[in-house]
Amino acid sequence: MKQDSNRREFLALGSLAALALPASAAPTPSTEDNHGYINFLKGKGEDVVPEGKWKATHADILGPFWAGGAPYRGKVTAPLAPGELLVMRGRVWGHRSREPLAHTVLDIWQADHKGVYDFQTAPRPDRRPTLADARGFSGGTQPARANFKNRIRLVTDEQGFYEYETIKPAAYGIGSTTRPSHIHYMAQAKGHARVITQCYFKGDKHIAKDPWASKSPLIVTLKKVKGEYGTYLEGQFDLVLATAGA
Ligand SMILES: [Fe+2]
Repeated sequence: MKQDSNRREFLALGSLAALALPASAAPTPSTEDNHGYINFLKGKGEDVVPEGKWKATHADILGPFWAGGAPYRGKVTAPLAPGELLVMRGRVWGHRSREPLAHTVLDIWQADHKGVYDFQTAPRPDRRPTLADARGFSGGTQPARANFKNRIRLVTDEQGFYEYETIKPAAYGIGSTTRPSHIHYMAQAKGHARVITQCYFKGDKHIAKDPWASKSPLIVTLKKVKGEYGTYLEGQFDLVLATAGA
């Protein structure tokens, strides 16, 4: 019995010791000053401004196919998923600070090479999906998290950069419109307003008639790149986040 109580006292003392730091203790040092790095790049004449203007990023519709809790990873599509390989990269910026925003959480989601989301079961070859279908998909048939496809979250690095690999999604028909190929984004950073948007791709014939794409300035020009292991598409997409409550 005595032995037990000694043991308890010992454990309690151990916990207290772990909590009581000496007055001289300093927090773990932070990483090198990012803003110093930006100034260094500016000094070298490197381009350290967002693509486009210093405007908060144009918002677009959420659409019916967003799902919370996507896995954190740098590849949107499954390994060996069919389609044209696409590498997207960019930076997230603060509108007021005009500095890159580290640790921004990005949700990225898209259709597959046939224009189908994981919310949708087998595509209906007999008819185009209607907007009511889309609302239905949103309402009740979100796949279990383990079955999420073509949706990820990722976090920007110390310099506000992100990069992911995917395939270029196909356009898809919904209601009376055909949505051009697009990738959905949601960006959330501390102290900033959340932005929900989409990027489209230059040269897509469906942009002009799409009610949202036709009003969007976010049309990305994709470059064909010859890489070490083959050819793929590359696109840059920067986001600028307004200050929260501004
Ligand atoms: Fe979409």
